[in-house]
Amino acid sequence: MSVRRLAEASLQPASFAFNKENAAAVQQWIAKYPKGREQSAIIPLLMIAQEQEGWVTKAAIETISDMLGMPRIRGLEVATFYTQYQLNPVGTRAHIQVCGTTPCMLRGSEALMDVCRSKIHHDQFHTNDKGTLSWEEVECLGACVNAPMVMIFKDTFEDLTPERLAEIIDLYDAGKGAEVKPGPQNGRHGSEPAGGLKTLTSEKAILKSTRDKEAKAAAKAAKDAAAAAPAAAPATPTPAPVAAAPATAAPSAPAPAKLAAVDTAKTAPAKAAAAKPAKPSLDDKNRPAGIEKPAAVDDLKLISGVGPKIEGTLHSLGIYTFAQVASWKKAEREWVDGYLSFHGRIDRDDWVKQAKALAKGGVAEYIRVFGKKPV
Ligand code: FES
Repeated sequence: MSVRRLAEASLQPASFAFNKENAAAVQQWIAKYPKGREQSAIIPLLMIAQEQEGWVTKAAIETISDMLGMPRIRGLEVATFYTQYQLNPVGTRAHIQVCGTTPCMLRGSEALMDVCRSKIHHDQFHTNDKGTLSWEEVECLGACVNAPMVMIFKDTFEDLTPERLAEIIDLYDAGKGAEVKPGPQNGRHGSEPAGGLKTLTSEKAILKSTRDKEAKAAAKAAKDAAAAAPAAAPATPTPAPVAAAPATAAPSAPAPAKLAAVDTAKTAPAKAAAAKPAKPSLDDKNRPAGIEKPAAVDDLKLISGVGPKIEGTLHSLGIYTFAQVASWKKAEREWVDGYLSFHGRIDRDDWVKQAKALAKGGVAEYIRVFGKKPV
């Protein structure tokens, strides 16, 4: 893994702004995320900045962080973590990313890097004399079955030999990169066997294989259905909510309809068995007490685990303040957990502790207790 630092100050431009076309794209990206979660757009916005400038400048990171209302250090963390962001100026005609992970290494990626060293620069992240080309070694790019490979901008060039990579580099350097067809460079189609097909070599064989598979699947489905069919089940059985049967039902003499329902439930398809448990009743005694909407509503989204949708649900239950959440006892937490289908998440995220801190002293107290800002 390479050390990822920002380019030195002398290379950094003083400012950054999206051009008109990209500014519109940026707004579209931000609008894809829920209100209050706009920071999630940092990844596509940094990529747009890179496509505009050729690399990601410090000014771009800071401008984008400011746009999204996030601390600049968070933007810097993202930009320096992901290797798809170029933190130094790269070649104006091509930046060649050579995969050096095991499958590519075993298939000759070292020789590809030697080509880059001799044709571009001995060291990665340096441009050639003309500033048109640069290269770097990267981790797996997901085309291992066509190893070894390189990526140039958004295209991958696979099944490479050193000679073919040298040709590709020359074409890009001459401004003819568009002439190079991406994908396998040894003539094979996709990731088919390099020596050609050995099976399913004709359309007839493919059709026969498909029909055989379909017939086998149909036979299995029929067998499963026969095994699952209840002996005396009604023609269109509907699993009755056995668990929710009235507590007052006579236990000693269940009605025939109930027996049928029990049988049906036993033999119903797995899908029905996996049905979600019913939500707890709104009239349940453990439902936390709600209040009328107060003039000042707390931002419940500051509690980790509460997003805009959950906050809306809590409001619909009359939960508007941190103090309310902070007061929930175990039974109340379990009721809300069940209502939100959360499976214990409220306790795992410790909403009560978070809410107590926020109710006591807002974000400052939260930072004091948890050592970080609420996200
Ligand atoms: S190892 Fe090179 S693409 Fe996966």
